[in-house]
Amino acid sequence: MARYKQSSINEVSRRSDLVELVSGYVHLKRNGTSHVGLCPFHKEKTPSFHVDEDKQLFYCFGCGAGGNVYDFVMRAENLDFVDALRFLAQRASVTLEEEHGTYNSNHDEEALLRKRILEMNRLAARHFYENLLKPEAISAQSYMQRRGLDKKTTIKFGIGYAPDQWTDLRDYMESRGYTAEELVTAGLAVKNEKGRIYDKFRNRLMFPIIDVRGNVVAFGGRTLGEDQAKYMNSPETPVFHKGRNLFALNLAKQVGMKEGLILVEGYMDVVSLYQRGITNVVAGLGTALTEEQARLLKRYASQVYVCYDGDEAGQKAAQKAIALLGEAENVVKVISFTGAKDPDEYILKKGPESFRALIAEAHESVEYQLLRLRRQYDLYDVSQKITFLGEAAKILAEIDNEVAREAYIKRLSVETDITTEAIKAEVLKLVYYRNRKQVKKELYNASTPERLNVDVSGVNQGQGTATYKTERILLNLIFFHRRAWELAQEIVQPEWFSGEMHRELFQRIMTYRRDNEEVRASDFITRLSEESLKQAAVSLLYIQFEGDSVQAMREAVIKLETEYLKKYAAKLAGEGNVKEASEIYRKINERRG
Ligand code: UTP
Ligand code: MN
Repeated sequence: MARYKQSSINEVSRRSDLVELVSGYVHLKRNGTSHVGLCPFHKEKTPSFHVDEDKQLFYCFGCGAGGNVYDFVMRAENLDFVDALRFLAQRASVTLEEEHGTYNSNHDEEALLRKRILEMNRLAARHFYENLLKPEAISAQSYMQRRGLDKKTTIKFGIGYAPDQWTDLRDYMESRGYTAEELVTAGLAVKNEKGRIYDKFRNRLMFPIIDVRGNVVAFGGRTLGEDQAKYMNSPETPVFHKGRNLFALNLAKQVGMKEGLILVEGYMDVVSLYQRGITNVVAGLGTALTEEQARLLKRYASQVYVCYDGDEAGQKAAQKAIALLGEAENVVKVISFTGAKDPDEYILKKGPESFRALIAEAHESVEYQLLRLRRQYDLYDVSQKITFLGEAAKILAEIDNEVAREAYIKRLSVETDITTEAIKAEVLKLVYYRNRKQVKKELYNASTPERLNVDVSGVNQGQGTATYKTERILLNLIFFHRRAWELAQEIVQPEWFSGEMHRELFQRIMTYRRDNEEVRASDFITRLSEESLKQAAVSLLYIQFEGDSVQAMREAVIKLETEYLKKYAAKLAGEGNVKEASEIYRKINERRG
């Protein structure tokens, strides 16, 4: 059977309009963003068949039929998915591209592999950690001491030691039932040309890289000897993409929204600052900051303090990072220091109080960029002055706040003795171009179903209990609202959901959300091959929700968690564990009161 690329499938659905398609079969009447008509899939006299234009979903409140464009064509034309895809592709004049090479139809296999690698990583991390405690790790221990790192920090970060041996980890993992080949897949071992497999990390201090969900996804290792590569990172694996992770975000995510996050270059900088009480700090992973990392920071930080090394390379990298962070709409400040090569050295020399002062004095990124730019030009030279103003205008064009922009223009005018009007004209020209780009982007985003404005009433009211409905609302919120999803990552547990169906949907939604920057209900539906799951998904995604999504999220969370705890307490009580059960009941009641 032909297998088409996911990108083709997405393109077809993007270029097909469900309302227009359905109108060829059913007479639809418009009602807000909803279109209503007689259901083509069951006999009815009053219309209960709805098509949502924004979400590109249809749903019949009468018979429960629902889905996206593909589902509609499959039903209406009695086609299978591939034929429905071809039907729509032709209609939308999209050329379908076939998937090449080996392709893994089995999502479960992929998930199993990831799970296995995460297990290996966790086990390896524990092994490295235990190594560090052994007497023969004396060199590593004294290295830690020399760098001023204490026991508490070691535990907090799970720092470990890979001894100077070829198969220390391999032997250990094999004794635990993992094969050498699996170790290579996990990036923990390498295979040479002769096919010999040995440990990737040797004679290194090991830093586990842990994602926001607490999975050990990779390692960074610092050499304890003279190795050319001072730091070595795990390669890309099924569970690790360098560009999508930040070192120590697992620890810093709690405080990021309150205090902002400090972005440094190195592992050691993070660990050293953390030990001295600066805990809102993360680092990239040995490559230049990526767009994805910038978005990750936006998600977890109210503002980002860029604090790179003082040398020229560090400052160049900082420039690039600032630009990327700005594009991802982070509020950016820059911490600069002198008298040390990196933040680690700085705090060791001058102490935490002095570092806190640096944070307080951090420049707004515009201010910082102008200062830096200013130093590169001789303003007495007319041609240099012109270049300087051109560059400065680019920086100012990025400012959204007009008052701030005006203030900087005034200052530049004084500095350069060029009229404010002339500078402003230059800046506005650039702003205009930027806005055009922005509008395009917004138009594109507008097709994502963020707007929700029909009421909940009438959606499967008869079906299920209050808890069941709350679960549906929660899943809907997590799907459509970024903030709700972020909260869900932190708090929502799969066990809270009363049935297998919602539990499964919860997992799928979380994964979909994680893997897709842009959220489209109809794309998500396409991926659900099980009919019953799809029906449940459509009916709950069809819910339109009005009001404060975060508030609603909180309410749902409290309700479901309470339900779950009650069941748990009842189970404990049933097992005779009355004391613990009543403790849980007490907590539940406390929260209510
Ligand atoms: P630095 O060379 O500035 O190291 O690299 P550092 O953090 O000051 O390290 P110490 O203090 O000597 O231990 C900064 C970061 O760049 C990446 C690592 O992520 C490191 O933390 N890096 C550096 C590599 O990936 N490979 C290297 O060989 C060197
Ligand atoms: Mn350093």
